[in-house]
Amino acid sequence: MNQLQLFLPCAAGVEGFLADEVHRLTGLAGDDLLTGRGGVVVRGSWREAMKLNLHSRLAQRVLVQLSHTPYRNEQDLYEAAAAVAWEMWFTHKDTFKIEVTAQHSPLKSLNFAALKVKDAVADRFRNKSGERPNVDTQWPDVRIYAHLTSDMATLYIDTSGEPLFKRGWREDKGEAPLKETLAAAMIAASGWDGTVPLYDPCCGSGTIVIEAAQVACNIAPGQLRRFGFEKLLPYQEHVWKALWEEAKAQQRPPTAPVFGSDVAFRMVDFAQRNAQRAGVADVVQLRGGDALQRMPPSDVPGVMLVNPPYGERIETAGVAGRSQGGRERAEVDDGGDFFNQLAAHWKKNFPGWTAWVLTPDLKLPSRMRLKESRRVPMWNGPIECRLFRFDMIKGSAREKSNN
Ligand SMILES: C[S@@+](CC[C@H](N)C(=O)[O-])C[C@H]1O[C@@H](n2cnc3c(N)ncnc32)[C@H](O)[C@@H]1O
Repeated sequence: MNQLQLFLPCAAGVEGFLADEVHRLTGLAGDDLLTGRGGVVVRGSWREAMKLNLHSRLAQRVLVQLSHTPYRNEQDLYEAAAAVAWEMWFTHKDTFKIEVTAQHSPLKSLNFAALKVKDAVADRFRNKSGERPNVDTQWPDVRIYAHLTSDMATLYIDTSGEPLFKRGWREDKGEAPLKETLAAAMIAASGWDGTVPLYDPCCGSGTIVIEAAQVACNIAPGQLRRFGFEKLLPYQEHVWKALWEEAKAQQRPPTAPVFGSDVAFRMVDFAQRNAQRAGVADVVQLRGGDALQRMPPSDVPGVMLVNPPYGERIETAGVAGRSQGGRERAEVDDGGDFFNQLAAHWKKNFPGWTAWVLTPDLKLPSRMRLKESRRVPMWNGPIECRLFRFDMIKGSAREKSNN
């Protein structure tokens, strides 16, 4: 188990940040850490696989590659899967599930491909021990991934179980929560290192501020949850417990304050309860209030990280909302008025702050009448987004109004 080939999938656009994170966590570099499309390839030990599950904020899973072969049809897949020594990883008493993903695969049905892999795994067990493991598509003990390209089939065993964005603290979701891994990617892309205040004025259920508070306190994202590797044969409880204890001992008081606010008090309530479960209730300072009115939460300028309401998914509320015919919620498609007012508010009241805004609206800077100083492509599930950086230069509001 000293030299495993691991694949850590992540959202498109996040690969470089994930490679940096893996390097920071393991020290691996060079040929042992390659940035690929949709993830990073790591040559590491079983212990490192567990460590990455516990500490990575950006990976979706940690997979162990067990086979990489050319294929042309379903029978080739069957043979590739039958050649893997699955009995080194689990027993016939464990339930399993096959997941197939594909890019340009010539196969007509991925369901049929999954069935062939499933048969191969089950037949191998029956041939070796006389007993077949059962399939459980909902709560399997073991997950096997097959990834098909136009001519290559790769088989992986999963060590994560539930995807890693499930940190174990979220019960209250709100309407349009960000995945924890994407909030973490926003933090990584912003370069926030926990030395200046962080503020999310549209915090919703608190994903960004809770991730940031855990970074400030050095709390491992996986500290609260269980992992798939606990059910696999190479698992040694004492090794895992030592890693877990080591992470726990490295927690510290926050290095910087973290603030969140939201116009919906229900959301602030959700965020508070989530922060409690995440162990950062005393670190994140949460309040109600309209982003168009809230003043900077600290005298020291810091970083704003915002996943604002967007027409398609959620309507803007508060001052801009009410100004549209006195309704509680504004039915504006593009939130143009809201963003225009938000920019004016920031320019006037947040000098010295840096604002990073995640949006699928590529025209956001012109709507805000602000010039971005950086734009980072990111995907929110299937939605292509940009993370725009705006620098609130001291005195910029006055300069603008004098022009
Ligand atoms: C896309 S959601 C943010 C979701 C959040 N990142 C999470 O993970 O739960 C946008 C949030 O903006 C809030 N919002 C809408 N208009 C606002 C305003 N004028 N001021 C402050 N928050 C507002 C909504 O209540 C909603 O919670």
